[in-house]
Amino acid sequence: MRLVLLAPPGAGKGTQGARLAEIFGVPHIATGDLLREHVTRGTEIGQRIGAQLDDGELVSDDLVLDMVREAITAPEADAGYILDGYPRTMKQAIEGSAQAEALGKGAQVAVYLAADEDELERRLLQRAQEQGRGDDNEQVIRRRLQTYRRETSPVIDYYRERGLLVEVDGMQPIEAVTRDIVEKVKVLRPEESTI
Ligand code: AP5
Repeated sequence: MRLVLLAPPGAGKGTQGARLAEIFGVPHIATGDLLREHVTRGTEIGQRIGAQLDDGELVSDDLVLDMVREAITAPEADAGYILDGYPRTMKQAIEGSAQAEALGKGAQVAVYLAADEDELERRLLQRAQEQGRGDDNEQVIRRRLQTYRRETSPVIDYYRERGLLVEVDGMQPIEAVTRDIVEKVKVLRPEESTI
């Protein structure tokens, strides 16, 4: 199973990514987590991107393309992957797909989680109280949503046009969202029906 999760901030990519990885027995690769790890470890990359993460701006496409190529070609991803938070720009979608397909690792399904912006803000502000993530404050949440609308929403159409898109209502309870994703993936890819 090679699946990408596309959705605005707070829609449940991380939550569903972890659950789907368990269900399909493949690694959950979240670009946001990989980038935050660099910041926490104080690597050269981390020092370069820390302010961009805090400001809710996207980091460079080339950095992300390299990072994802490395992750999906690692032995742990031999059976596939759940990619969360990528691709986020048309450049990532087009160049990333070409690179991944050349390696026999192209995505087979793209899951889009739809949710109202009011609910997204509510979830992220609640998470701010519980976890204190650096980019979960009102001003930066708005910027992340704007960036999503401008840069990432065209990527949804890219997958729709290729017949790979599965759309799920992300406003449902967490378990119902997972159930819906799995059912719709089985329709698109009957070979996964033993799951
Ligand atoms: P990233 O970490 O990907 O953040 P994001 O897209 O803003 O998404 P979030 O993690 O905030 O939300 P989510 O959709 O994962 O929801 P979650 O499951 O956590 O990216 C962070 C930054 O890294 C970016 O701003 C950018 O700077 C950089 N970056 C990352 N990828 C990049 C790329 N490809 N290119 C360039 N830059 C990149 O849920 C949120 C909350 O809601 C949780 O508290 C959860 O418990 C709750 N929740 C989830 N589902 C439900 C539900 N169904 N009902 C009720 N509550 C729910």
